[in-house]
Amino acid sequence: MPRFWTPCAPATPRPPPARPPPTCRTSTARPSRRGASHDRPVPRRAQARARRPPIHPARRSSAMTARIGIVGIGWWATFNHIPVIASSGVAEVVALCDLDDDRLKVAGEEFGIAARYTDLAAMLAAEALDGLVVSTPHVAHTAPAIAGLEAGCHVLVEKPMATSAADGRAIAAAAAKAGREVLVPTGLNFEDYTATARRWVEEGRIGEVRHVVCQMGSPLHDLFAGEPMEETADHLFRPPPSTWADPARAGGYAWGQMSHSLAWMIHVSGLRLRSVYCAAGQSKTGVDFYDAATARATNGATVVLSGASTVPKHKGMHTDVRIFGTEGVVVFDNERMRVELWRMDGQDEAATIADRPVYDGGLPTRVFARLCAGEPVTNASDAECGAEVTAAIHALYRSAASGQPEEVE
Ligand SMILES: NC(=O)c1ccc[n+]([C@@H]2O[C@H](COP(=O)([O-])OP(=O)(O)OC[C@H]3O[C@@H](n4cnc5c(N)ncnc54)[C@H](O)[C@@H]3O)[C@@H](O)[C@H]2O)c1
Repeated sequence: MPRFWTPCAPATPRPPPARPPPTCRTSTARPSRRGASHDRPVPRRAQARARRPPIHPARRSSAMTARIGIVGIGWWATFNHIPVIASSGVAEVVALCDLDDDRLKVAGEEFGIAARYTDLAAMLAAEALDGLVVSTPHVAHTAPAIAGLEAGCHVLVEKPMATSAADGRAIAAAAAKAGREVLVPTGLNFEDYTATARRWVEEGRIGEVRHVVCQMGSPLHDLFAGEPMEETADHLFRPPPSTWADPARAGGYAWGQMSHSLAWMIHVSGLRLRSVYCAAGQSKTGVDFYDAATARATNGATVVLSGASTVPKHKGMHTDVRIFGTEGVVVFDNERMRVELWRMDGQDEAATIADRPVYDGGLPTRVFARLCAGEPVTNASDAECGAEVTAAIHALYRSAASGQPEEVE
């Protein structure tokens, strides 16, 4: 398994297409979601420094198979979400929705999914879903996410969760109102080593967080320049320039990639950004190829954010986050694959890291399948985190355009 997969390519090779029976709507004994108790014990960071308990979304038998629908049947849904859920053992993809009839037909036949819709409201009304995956382009996440929550689904909303601070807050509010989880699949957040790093910060092992350096680089000079992404030549659908390289549709590196590194930084450090000042370098399509930003957190801490699209393909992506506190430093560097605690008193630690790929795109999707099936899971990238990431990146783009520091809304 190559080490160098990026957050735009899952580490697991695509499994053979799953072919659940077309009549899968009747193939599962599905208990009613309505009235099922749903704990939301995940404390807001402001309320508790204690480690999050797992979520017990709906007290259903683990023998149940969750029913999941997907909206946005493009590259990532067909390459990652559908096969990963189909092989999860706890959930099945029972319905597909896209605006494009041809895509629905191709993907429906490829994966043996008969229930296909061009109208999300019709899918939500007909399919009694436990979960909805929103894998539409960045600019088209908000309406389907809120519709899914209002229909009673847990919702996996692709990153970036939204492309304006207001939309991100609206999704978070809808999740709170519905009592359902939003999971944003920024895969690094779901690694065990991330839970260890977060615990170090929560337990005060580095003291008070005063400074962060958050850097990410990806081998995606083709994708963000509007060219076919080399690694996807044999995929069912390929990631299009309209989703990734159009400045009018939130293309570019910060929305497309730094949504991963910021989600990790915000989840682990507990910081919330207050203002951002960014200079960006553009690709030939006019989206950001490079981002160089400084930020101030609400607690006064200083933050450096950096992103670059032009890592050589053979080197792959890397994320390097250093969280400096009054008593020590947390170091996350997935190029050398190390997660370490360095303390002023010399009581250093290193997280145990299993033989992991740099990025496992299937990991958060598997967590989502288990969440929908009623299993206890930890949602390491929830709506609140997604809203903070969205608001920070929105401020970053506003600053790159204005040339001034911008407040995080
Ligand atoms: N988490 C990760 O590691 C990861 C990796 C890759 C992509 N992604 C995310 O997945 C999302 C999709 O990326 P992609 O490359 O697959 O895009 P894509 O353009 O290939 O697919 C999007 C699909 O959505 C459909 N669509 C557009 N608007 C719609 C609407 N309103 N209702 C229904 N369908 C609609 C399009 O017809 C298309 O089929 C992006 O937000 C991207 O950031 C995440």
